[in-house]
Amino acid sequence: MSPRAAPKVHHTGLTAQRATRPTEPIPQFLIDGAKVETKQTFDAARHMSYQPPSKIYTMKEIGLEGQGISANAVTAPFQLFTEEAIKQMRAEIFSKDVLENCQYMSAFVKSTIRGMGSARAPFTCDAWNSSAVLAKVSEVAGIELIPAMDYEIGAINISVNDQSVPIFNAPKPDEDKLPAFAWHRDSYPFVCVTMLSDCVGMTGGETALKTASGEIMKVRGPAMGTAVVMQGRYMEHQALKAYGGREQISMVTSFRAKCPHVRDESVLTGVRPISNLSELYTQYTRYRLEVLEDRVRDRLRKEQYRDIAKREFDLEGMRTFLAEQKDFIESMLEELVE
Ligand SMILES: [Fe+2]
Repeated sequence: MSPRAAPKVHHTGLTAQRATRPTEPIPQFLIDGAKVETKQTFDAARHMSYQPPSKIYTMKEIGLEGQGISANAVTAPFQLFTEEAIKQMRAEIFSKDVLENCQYMSAFVKSTIRGMGSARAPFTCDAWNSSAVLAKVSEVAGIELIPAMDYEIGAINISVNDQSVPIFNAPKPDEDKLPAFAWHRDSYPFVCVTMLSDCVGMTGGETALKTASGEIMKVRGPAMGTAVVMQGRYMEHQALKAYGGREQISMVTSFRAKCPHVRDESVLTGVRPISNLSELYTQYTRYRLEVLEDRVRDRLRKEQYRDIAKREFDLEGMRTFLAEQKDFIESMLEELVE
């Protein structure tokens, strides 16, 4: 008997259907202003300036106790990087190679820079993979985290106030109090939003959260070099528009649990239209299969131990384990589509 066939996918080639590229260029003043004299290598001792957040809101406080992968919901903005580090990141973001290859748009965002990768953005990728940064992000998240995948290191949102170019598909400033984004949940369990602009003279820019009772809670938006860590997959939220500053550039890095046994409910729906699908699917498949591999190896070790100890086969336990892995694979089939 032949093995059960996987659902058929018509192979037209992923490269044939590239994500839409914005027609509007990044303003020249941003590109000119981002140049640095010397490219530096990320060094936590020099480039990190961590200060603990003044407040960490728990899931319980917003009525979502027991949901998500951590008891912590969202932090107040906290200092994470030095100004020098932010300058190095901006130099990579506004480099020719990145602007030519990593700028995307969708119905949701008018201009975003994504998937720079460690060849184009070594400083930025080293920063988010550094154990010192990950230790602090994990500490405030209340669970050990790693970047969801390299492709999700640094999705950069750019908003410019003084002209009609690359801005979110957002309300105009006169449509006061309206959000830059609609209510949504993120694609990956946790995000860290880092502000790459100095926010002098800026108002707004908060993150609005919807509590379980429907109340709206506002968390202050980050200032330059500060970050907000949030369990965005499990909370409805939106970024409120900022006013007054010349530019607002933020970097969203997505995280997942380091432990393979923690559930991973990441989805690709929101990022598919603004990604190089071949790269996105390659990295998604790799980490998901690695998680599965770790789970299977761990299960085998436990099975072997049980057998040596002459304990009986745990039928219910094994069926539960298999059902969970089946769901895990099934959700991959849902995400890996044309
Ligand atoms: Fe979000």
